[in-house]
Amino acid sequence: MQKLIAANWKMNKTFEESVSFIEEFKKIIKNKKNAEIVICVPFTLLSETKKILKGSDIKLGAQNMHFENSGAFTGEISPLMLKDSGCEYVIIGHSERREIFWEDDFLINKKVIAALNHGIKPILCIGENWEQRIREETEDVLENQLLKCLENVDSKKISDVIIAYEPIWAISKGDPNKKAATASDAEQSHLFIRKLLEGMYDEKMAKSIRIIYGGSMKPENAKELLSMRNIDGGLVGNASLDAKSFAEIVESA
Ligand code: PGA
Repeated sequence: MQKLIAANWKMNKTFEESVSFIEEFKKIIKNKKNAEIVICVPFTLLSETKKILKGSDIKLGAQNMHFENSGAFTGEISPLMLKDSGCEYVIIGHSERREIFWEDDFLINKKVIAALNHGIKPILCIGENWEQRIREETEDVLENQLLKCLENVDSKKISDVIIAYEPIWAISKGDPNKKAATASDAEQSHLFIRKLLEGMYDEKMAKSIRIIYGGSMKPENAKELLSMRNIDGGLVGNASLDAKSFAEIVESA
C-alpha cells in the first residue's frame, strides 16, 4: 500500500508563508510518486493553496470541521465548505482538539461519518497520554477511542478512513528536540490497532486501512518509523513547517 505523508500545519503560516513553502516544496519533490502527500492547512489558506497545488499530485486537507452542512454554528466550517475549497482530507479528533476544545469521541464519531458522507477522507487521531501509558492503559484507551469514533461507520467506506496513531506524550508542541515513540513501540500500537480493525471488520478491510504515525516524526527518525510493517505513513506537525524537512520525510517513505 502506498504510504501517506500528511502535513499538519496547525495554527501556523500566513498566506505569503504558505505560498513560499509550496513553491519550494514542489521544486524539491518534483514528480516523485513514492508517497501520497497531503497538506492540512488552516481554513484561511484552503482555497488559495488549492490553486497553487494545481497540476501537482499533492492533496489538500483541513484540520477540523463541523458535522452539519450549514446552519447557526458561529465560527464553524462545514463539510460542504471544505468540499467547495477542494479539500480531500480532514484531520478529525486531534488530541489538541480533544484537550483544548473538549471534543469527545461522540462528537468525533459524528464528524467522521459526516466527512465520509461528503467524500472527504477523515484522518482520525487516537492515542494515549503519558499517565495512561505508565498505567499500562494504552491498549484500553486505543480500543475505546477506536470503537466509539468508528461506531456506525459504513463498512463500505471504511477504507477511506485513515487512522493516525498519535501518542500524546510524543507530540512535539513545537519543540524540535522532543523524542518520538521508538519505532518498535509505535509498531506495537499500530499492530494492536490493525488487530482491532480486523475484529471490527475483517482481515482484508483491516489491511486496506492506512494507520499512520504522528508525534515528533522528523527527517532523523522518519525512515525507521516508516519501515515498520504496520506504519503506513506519517502525520507530521513541526517538521512539516519547513519545506526541506517535510520533503526529506516524504523521500524516506
Ligand atoms: P508533531 O505534531 O509532529 O509536531 O509532533 C504531530 C501532530 O500533532 O499531528
